[in-house]
Amino acid sequence: RRLADAADVADVRRLAMRRAPRMVFDYVDGAAEGERSMARAVEAFGRVEFSPRVLRDVAEAPTAVEILGRRIGMPVVLGPTGFTRMMHREGERAVARAAERAGIPYTLSTMGTTSAKDVAAAAPGGWNWFQLYVVRDRARNLETLALARDAGMDVLVVTVDVPVAGARLRDVRHGLTIPPSLHWRSVLQAMLRPAWWFDFLTSEPLRFATVDGAPDDLAGITNLMFDPSVTISDLEWIRAAWQGPLLVKGVQRVDDAKELADVGVDGLVVSNHGGRQLDRSPAPLELLPHVVNAVGDRTEVFLDGGVRSGADVAAAVALGAKACFVGRAYLYGLMAGGEPGVTRVLDLLHAELVRTLQLLGAAGVAELSPDLVRLR
Ligand code: FNR
Repeated sequence: RRLADAADVADVRRLAMRRAPRMVFDYVDGAAEGERSMARAVEAFGRVEFSPRVLRDVAEAPTAVEILGRRIGMPVVLGPTGFTRMMHREGERAVARAAERAGIPYTLSTMGTTSAKDVAAAAPGGWNWFQLYVVRDRARNLETLALARDAGMDVLVVTVDVPVAGARLRDVRHGLTIPPSLHWRSVLQAMLRPAWWFDFLTSEPLRFATVDGAPDDLAGITNLMFDPSVTISDLEWIRAAWQGPLLVKGVQRVDDAKELADVGVDGLVVSNHGGRQLDRSPAPLELLPHVVNAVGDRTEVFLDGGVRSGADVAAAVALGAKACFVGRAYLYGLMAGGEPGVTRVLDLLHAELVRTLQLLGAAGVAELSPDLVRLR
C-alpha cells in the first residue's frame, strides 16, 4: 500500500532506500567520480520550459508511438541494467513482465543475472531486446548473440561507452563485491534490512547469466572481460551476426553520431550511461537536438539519462527523441517492491505523460514539437 501512495518517482526512490541495504541502493543511485554527469542530466530536465497552447481539444491524448517499425504503448524503453537480481529476487523477470504489461520494450543486459531464455519465458508477449558489451573473447560474443536470438530477442543495443569501467566511488567506499559478500559492513547493512536479507539468502545464488568472471568487484570483472580495443569497424561482424535492428548506445558527440549514421545503424542512443562512466560529459538532453538535427532524418535517435517523470519524456520527445530509455527510475520501483514496484513507476510515467500532453495543448505524443519546449 505504500507503493500506491507514492506520488512520483522520487517517492518510489525513498521507498527503495528503506527497503534495500545501503550498498545495494547506492549501486543503483550512484554514478562515477563526482557524479556531476548524473546531476547535470537531471538538472537539464529542470531547465525545461514548456510553452503550452490553449483552447485545443485535448480530450484524447494517446501516448502510443512507432519505433523501429513497431508500435509501443508510450515512448519509453526500459534500458539495460546489470546485476538486476541484486535489487530484488525476481530481478529481470519482474522488469520484463512489467514492460510487457505496459506494452513497452525491455532490454536485457550482457551483465544480467537471468538468461535470455528465462526472460523470454517470463514475458513471452513482451518486446524483449538484448544489450551487448563486446568481450575480449570474440567467440563468446557470437554465442551470447545466438542465445539472445534463440530466445526471440530481435533488437540489439551495443553499448560503446565502457572501454573500461567508470569509477563508482560509492561502491568503492562500501567495498561492494559482485555478488555481495559477507564482511562486517555488508552484514550490518543487510541486518538493517531483514526482508531483503531473507530474500537474498533464500533465492538462487546471484551470478551473471552470460559472462563468467571471478566474483570480485564490478570494475575488476569489467576490465578483465571487456574489450577496450573495439572500434566502429567491429559493427561489421556484429551486424553480420544479427538480423534485426541494431542500436548503438552511448553516443556523446555529433561527429560520432554522423559516422554511425554513415555505417547504417538503425538507431542511436544519446547517453552517458547515466553518468556512471566518464564524469562531466554532456547532459544528454542538451546534446539531443544537435544529434537529431545532424542525423535524425537517417536514423532513429533515442535519449537516455536523467528521465524521472512523464513530463521529462514529453520534453525529450518534443526535442526530437523517438523514445527515452530509463534506468534508475524502474530500478527504484524494483527495489521498492518487485514487479508491482516497476509497474507503479510505469503507471506514474504514463499518467504524467498524458497530463503533460493535455496541459501542453498536444492531443497526443504525435503533436509534440520543438516549439513547445526550450531549455532556460
Ligand atoms: C546501468 N546502465 C547499463 N547500461 C548498459 O548498457 N549495460 C548495463 O549493464 C548497465 N548496467 C546498469 C546498472 C545500473 C544499476 C544502472 C543505474 C545503469 C546504464 C543504463 O542503461 C542507462 O544508460 C542509465 O541508467 C540511464 O540513466 P538514468 O535513467 O538511470 O538516469
